[in-house]
Amino acid sequence: MGYFAMGIVRKPKVTEVTAMKNLLDRAVKEGSVLPRALPELYENVRDFFVYVDEAGLGGCVALHIDMADLAEVRSLVVREDIRGQGVGEQLLEAVLNEARYLQIARVYALTRVPGFFVKNSFYSVDKSELPYKVFKDCMRCRLFPGCDEVAMVRDLGRETSVAAQDAAGCDAFAVEAR
Ligand SMILES: CC(C)(COP(=O)(O)OP(=O)(O)OC[C@H]1O[C@@H](n2cnc3c(N)ncnc32)[C@H](O)[C@@H]1OP(=O)(O)O)[C@@H](O)C(=O)NCCC(=O)NCCS
Repeated sequence: MGYFAMGIVRKPKVTEVTAMKNLLDRAVKEGSVLPRALPELYENVRDFFVYVDEAGLGGCVALHIDMADLAEVRSLVVREDIRGQGVGEQLLEAVLNEARYLQIARVYALTRVPGFFVKNSFYSVDKSELPYKVFKDCMRCRLFPGCDEVAMVRDLGRETSVAAQDAAGCDAFAVEAR
């Protein structure tokens, strides 16, 4: 990538929720993300990371935990004028790092832009392969079964073990047992 936008990725402040809502609403109109009501955004604000530059809020993403070993990457949106500059990747990396910290084995996204996720080491699975808790929500959706969102997953459990092994220079489980 030739150029990186010059902002920062950090946790949002409650005072930024209305700007997040405006950004998400524009993406809802594009048909790329699901609508989020303002109360839902306040309740789940700690799920989010935001990208902020001199022009204000430039992007957001959320990591929503479904169960002990599964979380959803959702509400990923980058402001229209700064797309294609690596901001989406920076936001995704922030939630992946949080998932790694939480030791969540697998993250997934339901998306209409699978190409972005493939670039970031996700692979597609059939939605019915996701745990019942997630698939049940799909079945309740008014778009089911005609929805064109693709389920993309990334297995972090394997990466965590490899990273731990690399860092320790030996078997990760042996290190844990000491
Ligand atoms: C999808 C989105 C978040 C990507 O953010 P972005 O900042 O433009 O993406 P980046 O610049 O970080 O792109 C990273 C890589 O993914 C690729 N990429 C970006 N968008 C892509 C897409 N729609 N399809 C395929 N590849 C894509 C880029 O080419 C880049 O690859 P490169 O490093 O080889 O050039 C942004 O386009 C957006 O907000 N779209 C509308 C909302 C949306 O669709 N969200 C996803 C909901 S799950």
